[in-house]
Amino acid sequence: MGVGFRAEAEDLDTCHQDIRDKYELGKVLGSGSFGQVREAILKELPDKVRAVKIIERDDDAEGGGEWSNSAMFRQEVALLQNLKHDNIVRFWDVYEDVHFLYVVMDLCRGGEVFSKILELRRFTEANAATLGSQMLAAIAYIHSKSIMHRDIKAENFLLSDKSPTSVVKMIDFGMAVKFDHGIWFKEICGSPHYLAPELIGQKYNQMVDMWAFGVLMYLLMYGHYPYDSKNTRDIMMKVLTEPIRWQTKAKLSQQTLGFLKRCLEPSVRKRMTAEDGLKHPWIVGAAAPDPELEREVSTKNEDVEDLNEFVRSAHRKVTSSRKQVDQEAETRRTEMLEKINKDFEKGIRLGNRLGETPQEDFMSRPEFVRRDNRLTTAPSKAVSESKTKAATPAALSSDCSPPPCVSCADVIRIELRHSTRSDI
Ligand SMILES: Nc1ncnc2c1ncn2[C@@H]1O[C@H](COP(=O)(O)OP(=O)(O)O)[C@@H](O)[C@H]1O
Ligand SMILES: [Mg+2]
Repeated sequence: MGVGFRAEAEDLDTCHQDIRDKYELGKVLGSGSFGQVREAILKELPDKVRAVKIIERDDDAEGGGEWSNSAMFRQEVALLQNLKHDNIVRFWDVYEDVHFLYVVMDLCRGGEVFSKILELRRFTEANAATLGSQMLAAIAYIHSKSIMHRDIKAENFLLSDKSPTSVVKMIDFGMAVKFDHGIWFKEICGSPHYLAPELIGQKYNQMVDMWAFGVLMYLLMYGHYPYDSKNTRDIMMKVLTEPIRWQTKAKLSQQTLGFLKRCLEPSVRKRMTAEDGLKHPWIVGAAAPDPELEREVSTKNEDVEDLNEFVRSAHRKVTSSRKQVDQEAETRRTEMLEKINKDFEKGIRLGNRLGETPQEDFMSRPEFVRRDNRLTTAPSKAVSESKTKAATPAALSSDCSPPPCVSCADVIRIELRHSTRSDI
């Protein structure tokens, strides 16, 4: 059976500490259906800024269940606590109060990868491979820990710093789940353009992350999604019935094409694993550029295909498929947070800290270096093969929208996951 993260998450240690004991909440970095991501400034070291995902509690929401914000958050906590990798955002503290759940992580100052790389004067296949190798390293790492992300997409990779060549970080583990080898999953989740055929068929494993990664890389180098349409149902239909078009104005190298085709391989058995992806010559070449080849490229510069136009187009696609944030909900959340802040200043501390207490470097610093001394210091149901019903193209041809094998709630869930990012 698949491992239920919620059970683990509910066992999280708690202690009476409010997030505001340690952090001052700052400006909004991103918003979505879940709530907000804000800056979190360490009170003891005010020049140290982190990010906090603030999720509105909806434990009692109708139909919430394991897909409620709270359940997804608790999933995220349990997962993040065990992850330490250079290409995955580092998690620090987790808190809850009556209205919100808070997860503090490293701030990625560079924002979304696709937005940032627009600043590059030239964007080449080699640049794409460098980004891809970091994303793959994150995927290979989580897969080695038996975790699948299930929401691999452009928006869920940020850059650690303002430089477009800074380190890529995977974020957003709200749909992630622990898996066991040989066990199939059936819940449809993720973002419409990135759904693997077997995920639509409701019998899948961690290899859906590799398909989604292939979609991301294709988008980056082609400027459009491999399968696109205005509605989710049509995208799903195309994924199941149509071959991908590989011709492009960009004249990609055979090696790049070969790599993309190994990711966007409809057969799960033939699809490249993340581990194998890291060994692919296209990726290996990006990690350790061959000096001979480099020289060749620099002397024949006009042969280096500049993908800038495609990157701009890819960025437009990502931006246009983003859902607008519900302004009413946004205002309500901001007001609620302000009220909790005011109460806190009056001495009303309602928060709890959840999970492990991380060892912070600054805690071992001499007292005088510290500013003040105030610091008090969703699981997925895996299903056995026999129980799983694969979706067929025929199943998609019904009048029902979305297709009959996919409940309306499933698609709503998919669409809910689009977030909107405010300007940083
Ligand atoms: N660590 C971070 N540093 C900076 N911005 C972040 C960070 N985490 C999230 N964000 C911003 O908040 C947005 C939403 O966060 P995410 O975890 O992806 O939530 P959602 O579940 O809505 O996709 C991101 O797209 C990004 O713009
Ligand atoms: Mg996200």
